[in-house]
Amino acid sequence: MSYLIAPSILSADFGNLQRDIEMINQSSADWFHIDIMDGVFVPNISFGFPVLKTIQKHAKKPLDVHLMIVDPDRYTQAFKDVGAEILTVHYEACTHLHRSIQNIKNCGMKAGVAINPHTSINLLEDTIHDIDLVCVMSVNPGFGGQKFIENTYHKVSLLKQLIKSKNSKALIEIDGGVDLNNYKKLLQSGADVLVAGNTVFSSDNPIDTIKKLKVI
Ligand code: DX5
Ligand code: ZN
Repeated sequence: MSYLIAPSILSADFGNLQRDIEMINQSSADWFHIDIMDGVFVPNISFGFPVLKTIQKHAKKPLDVHLMIVDPDRYTQAFKDVGAEILTVHYEACTHLHRSIQNIKNCGMKAGVAINPHTSINLLEDTIHDIDLVCVMSVNPGFGGQKFIENTYHKVSLLKQLIKSKNSKALIEIDGGVDLNNYKKLLQSGADVLVAGNTVFSSDNPIDTIKKLKVI
């Protein structure tokens, strides 16, 4: 089974950001997961372009950027310019989701769509063949270190079926509360990418924890 690990920078030590980026470079992690929050779509503000430029400067792995912002189309090109390889917008934040996906692809990035815990998989039926990655939120977005929502396994299985039935190549990413106890079950349910913030950065040995998440 091949799958990817994407440590979330939200849980890094921003006073030692370069050190934490180098740690991920040296680890067996695959992507950098980068959470952008605007204080409107979610009840928290994270960081913006100056921090992204620092990440772009030091990171040696793909930047997987998760936008938790309203009207994300305004910034598609700007995120391309700071090195985003995968740009994910929220289903709930896009009035014209199909257009948002096309904009991301036209800018030369892979297009991701994130869905909140309350959003049904069925709502992706008409866009799944255009989507490169579906980010299944396994917590309500806005904060790191929250408790994993158990219904996620069921959603991932349904999403896997939808992807197969539509012949889509979309990857399934799980975001929120992923830890060493639930990652195997998530992979068995059909996950392709696991985001891990708190589990990696609050551990005594982040490199070792990433290594553990890569063992199936
Ligand atoms: C939550 C963010 C997540 C968060 C995950 O809104 O989208 O990416 O950083 O953090 P953990 O793994 O700590 O739940
Ligand atoms: Zn995220």
